[in-house]
Amino acid sequence: MLDAPSHDLDRATVQKAYGGWAPIYDALCGPVFLIGRKAAVKAARQVGGKVLEIGVGTGLSFPDYDETTEVTGIDITEPMLARARRKLETGRYPHIRDIRIMDAHNLEFEDASFNVVVAQFVITLVADPERVLDEAARVLRPGGEIVLMSHLYSEQGIGAAIERWVAQRTRAIGLRPEFPFSRLVRWAETRSDIELAERRDLGPLYSLVRFRKLG
Ligand SMILES: C[S@@+](CC[C@H](N)C(=O)[O-])C[C@H]1O[C@@H](n2cnc3c(N)ncnc32)[C@H](O)[C@@H]1O
Repeated sequence: MLDAPSHDLDRATVQKAYGGWAPIYDALCGPVFLIGRKAAVKAARQVGGKVLEIGVGTGLSFPDYDETTEVTGIDITEPMLARARRKLETGRYPHIRDIRIMDAHNLEFEDASFNVVVAQFVITLVADPERVLDEAARVLRPGGEIVLMSHLYSEQGIGAAIERWVAQRTRAIGLRPEFPFSRLVRWAETRSDIELAERRDLGPLYSLVRFRKLG
């Protein structure tokens, strides 16, 4: 398995990029991410209980949660979260309990606060993915799951070449198509309390990855 060169994005770049995307985000990413988003929320609902969604963005996932869950969402980009707030104000999403500005690198929650931590189209964008995963594992209860939905690096062939080419040009707009799965696997291997539960590719665009925290 080949690793792409590391191009972790920095916080300022991501905030600027998603501040710019916010007004058109739902129109653009709503349809593209639909299948992935539904699969991630379904996986979260199968565990149920308290859910933390990191990088919740404009709240596109809100309609997919139900009474089996109590959701808290966090994000670092105020214009994205402002849109999520407006959705909440409609009163249509009683299962979404709280949304807050917060950096996933420094979660302001007690250890073992959540049954599930969901990160949809986020883990490849953060400045320090391993730290964010450590934080997710910290706030997770034993038996709980981390559910990731992201585009993962194709690793080989023309797909990988295109992703490397695109990656050099799309950093400033907050896209990162060359994040290797092996990096997630290696993170799990550093932890005695985490096991990889599943990787499921949903077409060429994105993959579901689930980690379980051992009890
Ligand atoms: C591609 S959007 C995905 C939004 C939403 N999860 C969805 O599926 O529509 C990435 C989001 O992650 C947020 N984000 C990036 N880095 C973050 C961090 N360190 N902490 C919290 N949120 C972050 C961005 O602000 C942005 O809203």
